[in-house]
Amino acid sequence: MKTVLVTGANGQLGLAIQSATANFPELQFVFAGKAELDITNEKEIAAFFENNQLDYCINAAAYTDVDKAEEEPQAAYLLNETAPRLLAQACKKHGVFLVHISTDYVFDGTKGTAYTTEDTPNPINVYGASKLAGEKAIAAVGGDYCVMRTSWLYSEYGNNFQTKILKKLKTSSELEVVGDLYGTPTYAPNLVVFLLNKIIKSAFTSNMKHFSDGKTMSWYELAKKIVDEGVNLNKVEASVLQLKARRAKNTSI
Ligand SMILES: NC(=O)c1ccc[n+]([C@@H]2O[C@H](COP(=O)([O-])OP(=O)(O)OC[C@H]3O[C@@H](n4cnc5c(N)ncnc54)[C@H](OP(=O)(O)O)[C@@H]3O)[C@@H](O)[C@H]2O)c1
Repeated sequence: MKTVLVTGANGQLGLAIQSATANFPELQFVFAGKAELDITNEKEIAAFFENNQLDYCINAAAYTDVDKAEEEPQAAYLLNETAPRLLAQACKKHGVFLVHISTDYVFDGTKGTAYTTEDTPNPINVYGASKLAGEKAIAAVGGDYCVMRTSWLYSEYGNNFQTKILKKLKTSSELEVVGDLYGTPTYAPNLVVFLLNKIIKSAFTSNMKHFSDGKTMSWYELAKKIVDEGVNLNKVEASVLQLKARRAKNTSI
């Protein structure tokens, strides 16, 4: 039986994996939130890998606050570049396959059609740049790994677009949602099924993969799919919201 470590286990993706375990009896899981394994701490990682027999590590931990990253780039790079490098080194040492989750935000959004793994990244904000730096750091370590880029993750778990708008609707009868930024929404549990099946079949055949299960749409269109009919959604331009981080026009993958 393969044993899979999941870091960042209490985030959206980590929680989605936790709730899927019953459907994957072929796998054994070790879930580690930040309290159990701080992936920026080299000594903690070394001890954790010594004490656990692992076959795969899914790194679901990340600095994911796109706007805050503009104000604290060092924290973003620590978690999104340094930590994946440390994990990749530990994985290489112990013969563990690293599945690292990355993002459509490594692209600048100007292509006009869906990005493939052949396209050259060109991030336009700190979050995207720090995630790209993490991808490169893992490649430079040179162990067994797959960088899995996904986009616009949403679900009933943790903090994400879906949970945030449903929470807002508890205190407000109408919502402003951006209508001029496009991407491919990905239902987190579908990514989980894809990832865990790949692990079961030992089917990671490349160092880079894109996964999204949605078609291209705007945040406004995604919101319409999530909320009940009759909810007042106002379409706004991203510029109106004066977000700290620049946003790419269309990062569909
Ligand atoms: N959400 C999206 O729309 C989206 C889109 C594309 C790609 N992705 C990528 O998908 C992955 C999963 O995203 P997500 O939505 O699940 O993110 P998330 O909900 O923000 O989860 C990230 C988790 O990492 C944890 N963490 C923070 N610092 C840590 C540390 N030093 N050591 C260990 N864990 C730490 C966080 O814990 P605390 O909360 O306690 O700090 C949090 O539980 C990330 O790599 C992200 O870049 C996300």
